[in-house]
Amino acid sequence: MRAITTFTALGALLPFALALGPASAQSRPDPMRAAATQAARPSLSDPMVALRAPTEQPADGVAASAEFGGLPDAPGAEETYYQCVACHSTEIIKQQRITDARWDDLWGWMVEQQGMVEPEPEIRAAILGYLKTHFSSER
Ligand code: HEC
Repeated sequence: MRAITTFTALGALLPFALALGPASAQSRPDPMRAAATQAARPSLSDPMVALRAPTEQPADGVAASAEFGGLPDAPGAEETYYQCVACHSTEIIKQQRITDARWDDLWGWMVEQQGMVEPEPEIRAAILGYLKTHFSSER
């Protein structure tokens, strides 16, 4: 008796399940499909193209390092590159023109809020010195 009831209930639900299944699968955008389409059709109007484009001479006149994400090729570039690209591209750094104090704040924010691993003190000094030299509003 109980088995029959369950069977009947399933029978009643089955048409709904069948109707909902394919319909909802179709309306849900497939994230991988979007990526595949984008890769197959590179577009000039793609807003990310600008970010991927090779960077020319930076504002401070120091040549951009192809090896280190277009950062100015100067002492500290390598340390900065490996510390920072763990989470985002160098573009977010290159567009900054901020004060020394703001760099110190950002460093703290990256460590405390974003989980950036604090490096050895010498590395930290090299990176902050580099950032304050090349991405400064003060010099
Ligand atoms: C653990 C991950 C992580 C690391 C490592 C990291 N960042 Fe970030 N950073 C973030 C996140 C997350 C954001 C916010 C991005 C956004 O707003 O979309 C961010 C944003 C920034 C911004 C923009 C801040 C603003 O005012 O909007 C700058 C500049 C920046 N990071 C510089 C650096 C530098 C320089 C380093 C290396 C010393 C670094 N980041 C390393 C996670 C990280």
